[in-house]
Amino acid sequence: MTIVVLIGSLLLILYVTALMYWQRKFPELRWDWDGIDVNDIRFPSNFLWGVATAAHQVEGNCDNNNWSAWENAVDAAGQPRIKHGQKAGLACDHWNRYREDIKLMQALGVKAYRFSVEWSKIEPNEGELNAAAMRHYREVCEELQSAGIQPMITLHHFTQPLWFDRLGAFEQEKNIPLFARFCENVFQELHDLVPCWCTINEPEVYAAQGYFTGIFPPGKKDANAAGLVLKNLLEAHVQAYHALKRLPGGAQAQIGFAKNVFQFDPYRYWHPGDWILSRRLNLLFNDSIFDFFNAGHFKFHTPGLVKVEHHNSAAVRALDFIGLNYYSHFHVKLKWDRTTPFTFACPSNQIMTDMPFAVYPEGFYRAVKEISRLNVPIYVTENGIADAKDDRRELFIRRYLYALSQALKSGEDVRGYFYWSLLDNFEWAEGYDMKFGLYGVDFATQKRKLRDGARCFVEIVKRDAAS
Ligand code: FCB
Repeated sequence: MTIVVLIGSLLLILYVTALMYWQRKFPELRWDWDGIDVNDIRFPSNFLWGVATAAHQVEGNCDNNNWSAWENAVDAAGQPRIKHGQKAGLACDHWNRYREDIKLMQALGVKAYRFSVEWSKIEPNEGELNAAAMRHYREVCEELQSAGIQPMITLHHFTQPLWFDRLGAFEQEKNIPLFARFCENVFQELHDLVPCWCTINEPEVYAAQGYFTGIFPPGKKDANAAGLVLKNLLEAHVQAYHALKRLPGGAQAQIGFAKNVFQFDPYRYWHPGDWILSRRLNLLFNDSIFDFFNAGHFKFHTPGLVKVEHHNSAAVRALDFIGLNYYSHFHVKLKWDRTTPFTFACPSNQIMTDMPFAVYPEGFYRAVKEISRLNVPIYVTENGIADAKDDRRELFIRRYLYALSQALKSGEDVRGYFYWSLLDNFEWAEGYDMKFGLYGVDFATQKRKLRDGARCFVEIVKRDAAS
């Protein structure tokens, strides 16, 4: 009996100590917003304020890529892949209306625009460049420059030409040079107008959604494939980075990629299963990538589920800056299922956005701290809220910018902030239901209108520029 009591007590002590350790080491930061003055923010005078979009989401007629194929496909049960069978179609017709949209940027007072070039328009068939498409992007950059807005180009934002998909896309290491060649072609044409380049948008999201959850193309559910694709995407960045650096203008260009950071916090702080899983997801989604660029080792490993390892010393410091895309965090809850051993649950005390993301500005502060492990300048390349009713946008903007200002105050090297997004647009698997735009778009008339909740962003940007 006494031995049972002794073992029980020891286990209890062990459990409580472990919980205290986890809590201290990985706290879920919370601020008391009632006691905070969100107007107490300060940004350096040369801070770069911008807005962001991506080609497939705004341009229109991107009909030769993996996403257009996905929009026309159905799942095993015959259901459309995109909510209510929506398709990107003409989107915001930004391809034709970019001049008008640049005027909208000027009205916001921003000095930078992050957008992506559509690979499937520039290289519709393997090795065949479309001069008119390239000219179009050159005109966009010229128009931006003459409006006093600095372009930041993303070379791959979730989409790729169908021919590249048919070759196996980023599942195949041998395809990486095809991507690097595309990057070189674009860079040679546009480097004189574009100081900042993102090679790839959110490699971890592309890999996780396309190969683990299966809600993005190609809709696979295979953790090992996700690990391999992530490894190949990171390699693709490294190869493209070095290829561009060797070109005329390469040394002067700022080249990085956009990393999405979602923290994974335990849903039940007392539950060891939730703790272990949340820690594991942080390791896979975030730390594995930081380690690759800090030390050249990529380790994507979870016993019984996935094991991908890779080394490339050329990855070390293959970054002039890092782009941070931040929206929120997830609460992880253990689920007794071998293939997907967790779900994301939402504690009821959180303010939710229209996406399954909570308003969590403290996480933005945490994310800046976490990504600063890479020791390169940081640009926030995306941050924004889906809010169709426009009743949380102002609170979101004020609190997130307060958190960012706090990160700067604590010494982090954040150079700029790009709001996602300039316009309402095609939100991938969610279609047009999500309203991320500072400007709402009426898709029947293509009319744009500044949302009331976005006015505080304009106020902050203009106040900052004047100070
Ligand atoms: C990011 C994507 C971007 C947009 C926002 C809401 O993950 O990079 O295209 O969809 O989410």
